[in-house]
Amino acid sequence: MKRAALAIVCAVGLSACSDAPSMLDPHAPQAHRIADVWWLMFVLAVGVFLIVTAFVVWAIVRRRADTTSSADAERRDRRFVLLGGLVVPTVVLAVVAVATVRTTNALQPTGDGLQIHVSGVQWWWRVTYPDLGVTTANEIHVPVGTPVDITLTSEDVVHSLWVPQLNGKADLIPGQTNHLSFTASEAGTYRGQCAEFCGLEHARMAFVVIAEPPDAFRAWAAAEGADAVTPSRTDATAGEQLFVNGSCAGCHSVKGTTAVGVLGPDLTHIGSRQTLAALSLPNTTDGMRKWLSDTQGVKPGAHMPQIDLTPDQITALVAYLEGLT
Ligand code: CUA
Repeated sequence: MKRAALAIVCAVGLSACSDAPSMLDPHAPQAHRIADVWWLMFVLAVGVFLIVTAFVVWAIVRRRADTTSSADAERRDRRFVLLGGLVVPTVVLAVVAVATVRTTNALQPTGDGLQIHVSGVQWWWRVTYPDLGVTTANEIHVPVGTPVDITLTSEDVVHSLWVPQLNGKADLIPGQTNHLSFTASEAGTYRGQCAEFCGLEHARMAFVVIAEPPDAFRAWAAAEGADAVTPSRTDATAGEQLFVNGSCAGCHSVKGTTAVGVLGPDLTHIGSRQTLAALSLPNTTDGMRKWLSDTQGVKPGAHMPQIDLTPDQITALVAYLEGLT
């Protein structure tokens, strides 16, 4: 009993302390349907719990009955077991089954709407908008009220995309194409997480969905589709030289320069993103500096190696990358 109480206190405490998004706080019709099934199951479970508890209490407090059993009493007992042990559970499970199957069918992706391609990579997300000429990472921008169809693939192992406030999980499987649809009903930033263990940095494979008014989305897409800005500051120019002529360009692309690597995230507009390394660090001067100087300390096992850079080189690179808005 004590242990159960402790578990409940821990669960409530954890959910209150973390900024983890809850599927019980839906912001899309798809997530609403899932939350509805959850509440239905919760209400049924509470009902069953209360009824069973009432019977247990009743059995404890009632006066001991005559132990000589009559044929009548035996029949009554058998009826009770049949009803409580077979009929009622069958009805409860049937209700849950119908609700689950109906919801699963309703959540089938339609393939309509804004096309977005998300590819899972250890341990980040490649995000492309084939019709808009946009490539980014770890941030999925969507217009509010517009259905989106996400095509899901993987470049290495199985990952799973989950934004609890928008829809359920969908796996990204090598050699297979899956789809996930949702319509964000309210502007906001919704945290997503890889929901399938995919190796050392699975926990740091997060992302955000940024739902914004259609006008703001169009402006974002137009800016993201453009080539990178040419740096004007001296330190940023030095950073650009270092970037395109050094090892960075082997893995990263910056549109409009000779850096065309594809192993890592496209950095054409890295300055406009909120976080670095799939939400491992905030995208600030300090965050960028930390990432470049201690890559393997921030995200041990990340496929980006620890690059040997002098403090001056790091300052130049940070100036360049921050300017890529
Ligand atoms: Cu990708 Cu876990």
